[in-house]
Amino acid sequence: MAFSATSFIEKKIEEIRAQVGQKSAICATSGGVDSMVCAFLAHRALGKMLIAVFIDDGLMRQGEPQKVTTVLRSRGIRTVLVRAADDFFRALRGKRDPEDMRKAFRHTFYKTLGKVVRKHRAAFLIQGTIAADVVETKGKIKSQHNVLTQIGISPRKYGLNVVEPLVELFKPDVRKVGKTLGLPKSIYGRMPFPGPGLATRVVGEVTRDKVCMLRKATSIVERELRNVKAFQSFAVLLNDRATGTRRGKRAFGNIIVIRSVQSKNAMTATPTIIPYKILERIQRKITRQIPEVTKVLYDISPKPPSTIEYI
Ligand code: XMP
Repeated sequence: MAFSATSFIEKKIEEIRAQVGQKSAICATSGGVDSMVCAFLAHRALGKMLIAVFIDDGLMRQGEPQKVTTVLRSRGIRTVLVRAADDFFRALRGKRDPEDMRKAFRHTFYKTLGKVVRKHRAAFLIQGTIAADVVETKGKIKSQHNVLTQIGISPRKYGLNVVEPLVELFKPDVRKVGKTLGLPKSIYGRMPFPGPGLATRVVGEVTRDKVCMLRKATSIVERELRNVKAFQSFAVLLNDRATGTRRGKRAFGNIIVIRSVQSKNAMTATPTIIPYKILERIQRKITRQIPEVTKVLYDISPKPPSTIEYI
């Protein structure tokens, strides 16, 4: 049977109201499609009893905290912005293994969220886990940070009762729900962005300087590929260095990878065929605007055997 976003929304509004009752609830949103659709859906169900929480972890793209909180507030959603970048960089210090990084990220995330929950005396956490997160975590490909029980986090430890209204859906249906809920297209149609943010695109230890470099490269890649249809397009910073020249001198610089993939639901993916001229332009902009970078590569790996992100 074809998916009906309208019936889904009606059913979920009833379910959320039945579960949460007159208590207050918090919805953590990163600005990504899933968490924003979840916030709008929960707001429909709970109105002023819902607080959207945006944790600025220092791992977001350029201008995101302001952009996202503006969209939420413009729709009358009570929104709290928590600045916690120092805590995240401290937790990530010295971590190089991808799963250690995810673990450090999510413990900091839920600790921060737990504080907000207690401050606002919220009884429920409504979060935008979707079907692909569950499948990938079960398959032990990656531990997605929002699949709490599967990764052995007891929500009760953080004082939370969890509600996951989107957990049966894959991304295309999540977008339909977003569109039907009246979200701006710039939100429901946007590329997926992982919970741990730019940390999933830094190979090796995550530091402020590396994230700052990657953020600039990300803006360039997103801007230059804005008219190239893709499931996700982004930049990655490798842990390696490569020799280049800067002002006539040898420079042992950083390496940025351009990643762009076609996919329906993130379970499989193929690289985007990008016109060579565009790749050349991105290379020029990145090496000119980010002097620490000496090489720019294009990743042609499909999933499988690769994954979309780098950690
Ligand atoms: P991979 O890299 O596993 O990505 O092929 C599949 C989809 O999931 C996103 N992704 C994540 N999302 N937390 C998230 O919330 C994570 O740790 C994470 N890792 C990957 C990725 O952007 C892609 O859409």
